[in-house]
Amino acid sequence: MCGIVGYIGEQSAYPILLEGLKKLEYRGYDSAGVALLCPEELKVIKAKGEISVLEEKIGNGFPSGTVGIGHTRWATHGAPSDINAHPHCGCSEEFAVVHNGIIENYLGLRSWLEKQGHHFVSETDTEVLAHLVEHFFDGDLLRAVVQSVKMVEGSFAMVAISENEKGKLVCARKDSPLVIGLGERENYIASDVPAFLGHTRKIYILEDGEIAVVTANSVEILSVGGEVLQKEVSEVTWDAAEAEKGGYPHFMLKEIMEQPRALRETMRGRLLKGCSEFSLPELNLTPEEIRSIEQVYIVACGTAYHAGLVAKYAMEKILHIPVEVDLASEFRYRAPLLNKKTLFIVISQSGETADTLAALRLARQKGNKVLAITNVVGSSVAREAHRVLYTWAGPEIAVASTKAYLTQLFSLYLLTYYLAQEKKLLSPEELKEAGEALYRLPEQVETILKRVDEVREIAAYLTSWESAFFIGRNLDYAVAMEGALKLKEISYIHAEAYASGELKHGTLALIVDGIPVIALVTQRAVIEKSLSNIKEVKARCGHVICFAQEGTIEFQREVDRVFYLPTNLDVLMPILTVVPLQLLSYYAAVGRNCTVDKPRNLAKSVTVE
Ligand code: G6P
Repeated sequence: MCGIVGYIGEQSAYPILLEGLKKLEYRGYDSAGVALLCPEELKVIKAKGEISVLEEKIGNGFPSGTVGIGHTRWATHGAPSDINAHPHCGCSEEFAVVHNGIIENYLGLRSWLEKQGHHFVSETDTEVLAHLVEHFFDGDLLRAVVQSVKMVEGSFAMVAISENEKGKLVCARKDSPLVIGLGERENYIASDVPAFLGHTRKIYILEDGEIAVVTANSVEILSVGGEVLQKEVSEVTWDAAEAEKGGYPHFMLKEIMEQPRALRETMRGRLLKGCSEFSLPELNLTPEEIRSIEQVYIVACGTAYHAGLVAKYAMEKILHIPVEVDLASEFRYRAPLLNKKTLFIVISQSGETADTLAALRLARQKGNKVLAITNVVGSSVAREAHRVLYTWAGPEIAVASTKAYLTQLFSLYLLTYYLAQEKKLLSPEELKEAGEALYRLPEQVETILKRVDEVREIAAYLTSWESAFFIGRNLDYAVAMEGALKLKEISYIHAEAYASGELKHGTLALIVDGIPVIALVTQRAVIEKSLSNIKEVKARCGHVICFAQEGTIEFQREVDRVFYLPTNLDVLMPILTVVPLQLLSYYAAVGRNCTVDKPRNLAKSVTVE
């Protein structure tokens, strides 16, 4: 969480920092601040609230320095406030530090520093970093940062500046992302590439344990031990425009609308020979390795976890092997049973989620090969996994994940069918049928996206309610969980997903006159059973909104509203079902005047435990 930016060059730093912070606001938005090295002194300005509050506070009379750092915060230690906002200074305000992560031993360090005479003003863990740098400074900022990070336990991406050494930024990372953008007589630092994508595409990705000294004309990267490292420059392939709203009122709507293209990108080169052959060379698995897979373990957080739940149903059905799906924050503190025949998969849009990364490392320690499904090239997860399957969704900015989820599902289907092909579990005809069905999906999503008005009407019903239920059986249950999460995270309507068959074991008690119940009924094998559950809800006067495949059952008579989805293989229906649910949440949130792209208390990239 939190977004960090840094600039050093010949231009006025403040507008560049501000622009960068706005691009990183998805990482946190409860307070923001900048520190600039001005000719006379170091100036720090910070404000509680979104970046616009800081912008207003500073107005046009911003400090003129050409070196500076900035931060947008997602609070962990200390409530959002002006004082807890970053950058933080030592006692003297000669040093300023921005930080992303959690310093786990900050209480011990704080009392040690206090004994040395340091005076603290905030409740944050970060402030110890500023005081440590100040404490160790003997004329060399690099040396002070090195000494400081050696004392710190936990995770950090940090940048420090000092008015005693005006021509440099010093940054370091451990378990939180940091990239350096390379310009002409200017350089940039940021938590994520979009912050400086308008200026440069050439980057260094900082690895754990690395420290960089960045001046306007040079970037020197060192290990904590002081050894100078030679790193390769990477080239970003994203277009800056992809990270802009492009005329849509919100990133979320733009990203929902981009889904057909994202699916096509994810499919590219992976469905061959008229859709009869699945190709995933990036897996680099030998036929023996594939044959030896007897169990799949999928670990992820949030929406990515929900993608894993869909995969469980699909994989067990097609591959006939057990699939475990676990929340990364649970997995890492259990005693999971993995063995050499387990294919271990982590799913993460950002590739930086702290719990997912820790789960990946744990699986590696246990001797498992890890396959990562991620959207961000060069992310920590991508770098640390043995194999990577990229979802080519493009940058996803809205906190609520949409196109990343859809491409995660698509990648998991590709993987499932690829393994089935290599294990010879499906006939050539069955593989072709699946390939063609997958190929149809982007177009089918397009047709759903044209029916926005229908979804808007349904959303209008939801907006006045504080509670809603999502029900479904089998794969529909997995999608119901994602539908409920989408609705609650952006519209703040309390939404719960239930396996339809479980309703009578408690939830039915909550069904009152008119309460919205979104019933997903796309799985033909359980239609009759689902219909019985719908009747149970109707008998208690719930308002049932049904999502079903066209041409299955005439649901109109049974429910209050029905949205017919294009037909496809039952196993692939999650890709189609979730799209109107995303739109439903979006319009419910808009109808309730919620801040769609930046829901309260949340952040997109959760780089703390
Ligand atoms: C946060 C985001 C979710 C996301 C989850 C996992 O909670 O708000 O949208 O699903 O993190 O993120 P990841 O980047 O690992 O997929």
